Amino acid sequence: MHRRDFLLRGVAAGAGFLASPGLNGEQGSVARARTPIIISTWRFGEAANKEALSVLVEGGSVLDAVERGVMTAEANPAISSVGYGGLPNREGEVELDAAICDGETQDAGAVCALTGYRHPVQVARKVMEESPHLILVGKGATSFARAQGFDAQETLSDGAREAYQKWREKHPKADGQPEGHDTLGQVVMSSSGAIAAACTSSGMAWKLAGRVGDSPIIGHGLYADNQVGGCVATGVGEEISKICGSFLVVELMRRGATPDQAIEEALDRIIGRVPANRSIQAAFVALRRDGLTGAGSIGSGFQYAVTRDTETRIVNVEPRVQEG
Ligand code: GLY
Repeated sequence: MHRRDFLLRGVAAGAGFLASPGLNGEQGSVARARTPIIISTWRFGEAANKEALSVLVEGGSVLDAVERGVMTAEANPAISSVGYGGLPNREGEVELDAAICDGETQDAGAVCALTGYRHPVQVARKVMEESPHLILVGKGATSFARAQGFDAQETLSDGAREAYQKWREKHPKADGQPEGHDTLGQVVMSSSGAIAAACTSSGMAWKLAGRVGDSPIIGHGLYADNQVGGCVATGVGEEISKICGSFLVVELMRRGATPDQAIEEALDRIIGRVPANRSIQAAFVALRRDGLTGAGSIGSGFQYAVTRDTETRIVNVEPRVQEG
């Protein structure tokens, strides 16, 4: 059986998913000539999308685009959850997580708890391309970054240092709850249908040293498959990881779900198992290879950036759990 026939049968025989884009979804470009489509989590995804698009326009690959795209947030000290500007762990050290995934081959690279380098996504890409490994952590990741020729830089911004000092005044024993987790995740699809995804995050503020969230774990924070689409996550990494969130969304789309439907199912698994999860934040954005995009969020206030036909706009996402 041809692959296309198989996929169509899969859709017909699938879990009864509807064919509509859904509440947060956008109609794809199936009937039109293909143009690049880029989606990113949060409002700061707008700058990331514009950068990724310019890389594609200049002839760069989807991996180049997604890497350079998320680097915009890593370089911005005003963003307190990513790269330089990211809030530190409870010992006052910024530990960065990032990963990149190639939808053609599922080749991927990741770094966890990287210190001393502002662009963990660049190091993650080197892990993918220049090492025999998938993930490097902590000191090993730092040594690898140095060996690859990256320049070490201060990663604790003035704003993050000040925020940490205030937190320590309130928590002299450094024993409070971790907070915040606005990962930048991006999925890029080129006009030829090549897909790549990347995530970058400083993880939860005031986390235990060495804590790793979903963002650098392939299939949890990100996943891409040219045959299906891509997905990235943001929110409480522990809960996203427990359901292998991004892989789950892509696999549901493989079986015929729209991005919105697949994400709804993933979010329902997070809140279905543990009622307390109704008050956490977890969100996904996904792109299907036919151009359909979608998003879903447990909590309110989630936005994502969509770029298609060279136009970038911010979409407000209705929360899955209504307040009150
Ligand atoms: N989603 C990012 C984290 O939990 O670290």
